[in-house]
Amino acid sequence: MFKFVILLSVVACAFGAAIPEGLLPQLDGRIVGGTATTISSFPWQISLQRSGSHSCGGSLYSNNIIVTAAHCLQSVSTSVLQVRAGSTYWSSGGVVSAVAAFKNHEGYNANTMVNDIAVIRLSSSLTLSSTIKAIGLASSAPANGAAASVSGWGTLSYGSSSLPSQLQYVNVNIVSQSSCASSTYGYGSQIRSTMICAYSSGKDACQGDSGGPLVSGGVLVGVVSWGYGCAYSGYPGVYADVAVLRSWVISAASSV
Ligand code: ARG
Repeated sequence: MFKFVILLSVVACAFGAAIPEGLLPQLDGRIVGGTATTISSFPWQISLQRSGSHSCGGSLYSNNIIVTAAHCLQSVSTSVLQVRAGSTYWSSGGVVSAVAAFKNHEGYNANTMVNDIAVIRLSSSLTLSSTIKAIGLASSAPANGAAASVSGWGTLSYGSSSLPSQLQYVNVNIVSQSSCASSTYGYGSQIRSTMICAYSSGKDACQGDSGGPLVSGGVLVGVVSWGYGCAYSGYPGVYADVAVLRSWVISAASSV
């Protein structure tokens, strides 16, 4: 969530202030290390906005239900939320819809970031088109090393205070939960069963991408959740594991 980058990069993103020597951010990228794109290539991507400002990403699950991160919906009321769908730009174009209701995973824990997933019901249904499409939920975890892409309007480097106006994406590789928790990477036991990771040197999601889609094999496999900095060597992006949380999403979508 972008509006509180400084605070939440400590709180919601679990790690914080001190940047160890040798882990300085890489400053030459977008999303981090990605490329500008258009909504036609990621038509399930939405911008979740608070009081008119982009705060998080999300994915269309149907014409009126969005999947996002629970940490994007803490201490907020539906009246200040809106969703922009069908636009390459977070601040213009496409369709803006009000939010009727949302539901955070009951097991979400802001300290550990387990179960960082939520659903939103829009006040009115969207008309699906080439720029507004739903994406299916993964039913099994993608293989370790599988190709994936993550998209969003998040910052182009860790600590940046401005968002790109145009949608960005980057290609990364899936890191399984067990590999992500292994000594190959820096997180250890902070990686829990509801999490999956993705990594590629110099490439990552970053602040403001939270809640947004990690897609592999044409289905939603992850929801941007947290990471140590962005694109730091040895620290993959961490995502809510959609295959593990799939049945929660399906039932929450029908009851929200
Ligand atoms: N917690 C961040 C947010 O609220 C998402 C950070 C994702 N970080 C990463 N290195 N993949 O926007």
